[in-house]
Amino acid sequence: MTFPEDFVWGAATASYQIEGAVKEDGRGQSIWDTFSHAPGNVANGDTGDVACDHYHRYRDDIALMRELRLAAYRFSIAWPRIQPDGSGPVNPRGLAFYDRLVDELLAAGITPYVTLYHWDLPQTLEEHGGWTSRDTAHRFADYAEAVHARLGDRVTDWATLNEPWVAAYLGYGNGVHAPGRRDPADALRSAHHLLLGHGLAARRLRPGTVMLVVNSSPVLTPAQVNDPAAVPGEADAAAVERVHALLTRQFLDPALYGTYPPEVLAAAERNGGTDHIRDGDLDTIKAPIDLIGVNYYNPCVVESGPGLPADAAWPGSEGVRFATADAPTTAMGWPIVPDGLSRLLVRLSRDYPRVGLMVTENGAAFDDVVENGRVHDRDRVAYLDGHLREVGRAIEAGADLRGYLVWSLLDNFEWAEGYRRRFGIVHVDYATQRRTPKDSALWYRDVIVRNGL
Ligand code: FCB
Repeated sequence: MTFPEDFVWGAATASYQIEGAVKEDGRGQSIWDTFSHAPGNVANGDTGDVACDHYHRYRDDIALMRELRLAAYRFSIAWPRIQPDGSGPVNPRGLAFYDRLVDELLAAGITPYVTLYHWDLPQTLEEHGGWTSRDTAHRFADYAEAVHARLGDRVTDWATLNEPWVAAYLGYGNGVHAPGRRDPADALRSAHHLLLGHGLAARRLRPGTVMLVVNSSPVLTPAQVNDPAAVPGEADAAAVERVHALLTRQFLDPALYGTYPPEVLAAAERNGGTDHIRDGDLDTIKAPIDLIGVNYYNPCVVESGPGLPADAAWPGSEGVRFATADAPTTAMGWPIVPDGLSRLLVRLSRDYPRVGLMVTENGAAFDDVVENGRVHDRDRVAYLDGHLREVGRAIEAGADLRGYLVWSLLDNFEWAEGYRRRFGIVHVDYATQRRTPKDSALWYRDVIVRNGL
């Protein structure tokens, strides 16, 4: 299987998950510092204080990327390094780090893909309401503009937000992520303000290529997981479409068409109302963008569940049962359903035909073992191989797919799961910070060189 000639191969990471150096060079506190230091929030009491120490080791990490023949590297910028309190003058030492990082990548022939928000909101902004406050959207756009002003001469590829669904609904809905708030109305408001921030920022990232990165999944009934041709009954089909609206259309319809699906407005009506959606907001949110970034790990499996209350992460999901797929799972307990990726990409390219697509994250955690300096992660190779075949199938089916970025380059701080979940194609020994490319990294290098499987 061969990929298009200009297909972009790379890997992704995020600032809080790898950088460490949380008090260095004037960095302010983020909601993830606060959250991870509060007992009970993260497995094992882990924090991102040191993480992969990438802040100090970025040169070696880039040398490694080069050996692995990566053409692109998606990383995120820690907003509190740029504006320690989330607004006002920029901190030159914080910007200087990303300046060096970009220069080093370019010198290595690797294209930087910069994500502006991968969840590390400045704590000071959270104290003023965080994403429940409309002002945060404006602060975000100012921050984005400041970063673009400094890096825009060398960076072309920008992503505004990473996974606004997760930021809003795990951060403010079920409280599993920072800032750990639990209120359906706050979650819905946050989702809108994240979108508003996206729209305001997108207009300030030109010249450049702009994308919005979403966590998307095909929403399937249990029967559809193993049989794409299965036709669900009416109640199950309605549950599927409602959850698809809450997960994916909630973000992509406003961003690309300037409309909210009725299911989202209905959820807001039942939880705090829709007053936070002001006249003109949807026009702002519908800023021109070039690409949708798709992070795919597993399908979302649901069926009708009469009388069930809404899940805390899913306001508007009353009467829906979240089910499990009949499939093998990763160490996260996530079902492995590779063809979920092609089903998703084909639907997105049909529903949003005017923009290109890029797989901005895909990968898996397994319980890796280091043996004689090697990690024989056959299960990860199988996962990646299976998903890449589906990327190829989606392209054959006509999806305008520009590239694939594996999650992740390095084992790292996996949010509420801490360091116990390893997603890297490169193993990190946290005691010594030694990096060991796993078999999957060497396999991936060969895929890149061959531009195919
Ligand atoms: C995604 C996040 C990323 C990583 C993977 C496993 O939701 O964007 O930071 O944690 O999941």
